[in-house]
Amino acid sequence: MDKPKVVLGVSGGIAAYKACELLRRLTESGHDVRVVPTASALHFVGEATWSALSGNPAGTEVWESVHEVPHVRIGQEAELVVVAPATADMLAKAAHGLADDLLTNTLLTARCPVVFAPAMHTEMWENQATQENVATLRRRGAIVIEPAVGRLTGVDTGKGRLPDPGEIFEVCRRVLARGAGQPTADLAGRHVVISAGGTREPLDPVRFLGNRSSGKQGYALARTAVARGARVTLVAANSELPDPAGADVVRVGTAVQMREAVLAAAADADAVVMAAAVADFRPAQYAEGKIKKRDGREPEPVALVRNPDILAEISADRARPGQVVVGFAAETDEVLANGRAKLARKGCDLLVVNEVGERKTFGSEENEAVVLGADGSETAVPHGPKESLADIVWDLVAPRLF
Ligand code: CTP
Repeated sequence: MDKPKVVLGVSGGIAAYKACELLRRLTESGHDVRVVPTASALHFVGEATWSALSGNPAGTEVWESVHEVPHVRIGQEAELVVVAPATADMLAKAAHGLADDLLTNTLLTARCPVVFAPAMHTEMWENQATQENVATLRRRGAIVIEPAVGRLTGVDTGKGRLPDPGEIFEVCRRVLARGAGQPTADLAGRHVVISAGGTREPLDPVRFLGNRSSGKQGYALARTAVARGARVTLVAANSELPDPAGADVVRVGTAVQMREAVLAAAADADAVVMAAAVADFRPAQYAEGKIKKRDGREPEPVALVRNPDILAEISADRARPGQVVVGFAAETDEVLANGRAKLARKGCDLLVVNEVGERKTFGSEENEAVVLGADGSETAVPHGPKESLADIVWDLVAPRLF
């Protein structure tokens, strides 16, 4: 089989060096990558690096190998174009259809999905001109990944960092995996909130009641939603996973903190997916000092109190009319019957029911589920990667959105 053809556009920002890592990931996972840098990008990383790492020529101008008509052919043949980093200037050129070098020509001729990973100083990102250009590109179906927050060039910190190249690669992989014929950005213009991980309820300064959730399913939902063009808020409890590119990650510890973060983010959300394992109970008392064992005495029993049920609360009291709410249920037996009863009890629109056991679901890369709908629908999801289940959840959410 032919390798999928990917164009990696690189524009002139210091983050160009990180595109080398993205290029490696793309080539090592079996893609035929053609790097198209701009002339300014070559100030940061030279043509020899791009061409050696990709195994293809890496010219910047339309005047090289003219007989091959590269200004048209490269874009036409691509199955994905990813521009990383995309500077403010590149976004402006793309939004206005300028075509003064090979990369901008390629963007005009590409019929495939296009992903932009902007990187620039916060002021440039927040400038109204840039924001309007980004909105234009998104409206036309491009995926523009929100920059990360963190250290920028020099001493500055703020929004504008290129997300981790491994995570940009994940977005590319998801966009390619959805394949031709499927709308790439079907969640464009939507805000989705996803909870992930497992809450920890502290008992004393060193101990907590917790659970075995890894956060992988919630993170997969976040990654797939970014790859489908959504604005994503990920409320993550105690997960070690890297931030998905483009998602606004809010870190929490306990169920009470998660409730606050989810409610705040849900205020303008089109959909809320509660994939987190939220502790139903927390210790009634928090011991300020470490609880010590006392010789010859039995330990005190730990009294528990109920935590708020976030899913039931957001389902009953929708922040916006038409907001779609999705819950997850982990069941060990009577999976479907318990799932139906839970769907009714929680009042959500969709419930993803997993069968769990010692070796199932928790921490694993794969999942198997049935998605129950409040409308009586039942969608079986065969055993497969958590990202496939995530895409099916979005397939079911998308038509339910207002
Ligand atoms: N959930 C929540 N708040 C809680 C507990 C759970 O929002 N305090 C959400 C989870 O994120 C998940 C769904 O509810 O989406 C199902 O959680 P589960 O613990 O299986 O439901 P329970 O009501 O606790 O049912 P059970 O009787 O099986 O414990």
